[in-house]
Amino acid sequence: RRPAPGTTVPFTPSTPLPATSPTGDVAFPPGFLWGTATAAFQIEGATREGGRTDSIWDTFARIPGAVTGGDDGTVACDHYHRYRDDVALMRSLNLGAYRFSTSWARVRPDGGAPNPQGLAFYDRLVDELLDVGILPWVTLYHWDLPQAVEDAGGWPVRDTAYRFADYAMTVHDALHDRVRVWTTLNEPWCSSFLSYTGGEHAPGRTSRHDGVAAAHHLLLGHGLAAAAIQEVDPAAVVGLTVNLTVADPADPSNPDDVAAAAKHDGLFNRMFLDPVLRGDYPADVRDWVAPYGLDDLIHDGDLAIISTPLDALGVNYYNGSCIAATPPAVVDEAVTDRPDGVRDDDDAPVRATLPPTPSPEGVHHHARGLPRTAMGWEVQPEGLTRLLTRVHRDYTGPRGMALYVTENGAAYDDVPDADGFVDDAADRLAYLDAHLRAVKDAIDAGADVRGYFAWSLLDNFEWAHGYSKRFGIVRTDYETQRRTIKASGRWYAEVARTGVVPG
Ligand code: NOJ
Repeated sequence: RRPAPGTTVPFTPSTPLPATSPTGDVAFPPGFLWGTATAAFQIEGATREGGRTDSIWDTFARIPGAVTGGDDGTVACDHYHRYRDDVALMRSLNLGAYRFSTSWARVRPDGGAPNPQGLAFYDRLVDELLDVGILPWVTLYHWDLPQAVEDAGGWPVRDTAYRFADYAMTVHDALHDRVRVWTTLNEPWCSSFLSYTGGEHAPGRTSRHDGVAAAHHLLLGHGLAAAAIQEVDPAAVVGLTVNLTVADPADPSNPDDVAAAAKHDGLFNRMFLDPVLRGDYPADVRDWVAPYGLDDLIHDGDLAIISTPLDALGVNYYNGSCIAATPPAVVDEAVTDRPDGVRDDDDAPVRATLPPTPSPEGVHHHARGLPRTAMGWEVQPEGLTRLLTRVHRDYTGPRGMALYVTENGAAYDDVPDADGFVDDAADRLAYLDAHLRAVKDAIDAGADVRGYFAWSLLDNFEWAHGYSKRFGIVRTDYETQRRTIKASGRWYAEVARTGVVPG
């Protein structure tokens, strides 16, 4: 299961597939895992309770203009107090698994000593899940770095990787007797480039050097934590979750567009996949980021640590991207392939107050006229089939690793009725239906996909968008904290119960 060092698979554009038939029952393999996903900062609230101290998202949210509506995580979905009800809700949705994250700032306040009260919360949550037969799927880092660790340099500093592995073992020590599945990081592209270069996410830095350094140190932290868990817990299922896209050249017959798509694929997908699963950064990626110091950051032995063999890879997919070497004639503010709503043409940043965003030179996103979600993201289910097939073929399949879709879902402008019920059959439900069909197409094409997690269980704090974007299959009424299952949630409960996407 060792990777062959340095062998990268060059980017080759693939062709969009005809849409899958939207009708007909689609049965998933027996044992396929049906879940939902959340993250600590997005749902817990209680940011000042139980010994927790600030994370970078607490401080970022205090910066005027950083988060829509000035929203913050102080209350969020109040899950810290309502976790029992939320687990009962999951039970009523027939879920087999629940992907959640632990908060570093709760478990090790200020990045310091372990906090028994913080650990006790996850202890109770795990017990509650196991009581009703739901598999706990723990993510150790979903973006909420303790502010004190940021103050010491954050992810651009090498020491943070070691501190992360240390914190990971604190959580593992506390929960390993009941938790089998461990994901080190969620979406390292976001916690590096979007956070340290794009400035759209906490801590809001805008340096290309810092983004590259953060990326390498996140990967190092991943490898250190993965190896440490495996050493003490050989039965653990250890993985990483990456956000990936399908980069299509706007004009496949134009070599410049193909080169631009390859660059986007390199800096978004392969920069994270290759070191972890093939043992090295791809040569083209190394060239592109060389001016920002990557070579100096890589110490002897780093790549062996980063490529610690894993058991599972989690893929988060929301949309594909159409890439050209030149900007679109009409700049469309809503087009982005970033799962966080940031457009990345240097000449048209979303927030005029920011310095240019981290778009690689010569990479421009174009619209295709596809339907959009409330995030402005184009809906492209067949991209998920191509993505999973490719990841299986080039990365995980040869190493016998399982693939899981650890996030997929959509925000829409929900309109509740008087009872708080949202009939999202025509949008969110349709989105999930189409993407599940796309997953099944990938399985039929040979990809070893073993589970799917809808993002998200609940409407929650959507990072820089605050509470304005709703991804839940369950509505959160933020005034009353009442949860109301949406049409998509009722539908998903049936899918989870039967293993069949109904035609
Ligand atoms: C990616 C992230 O992992 C999650 O935190 C976020 O809310 C969703 N995608 C939607 O943007």
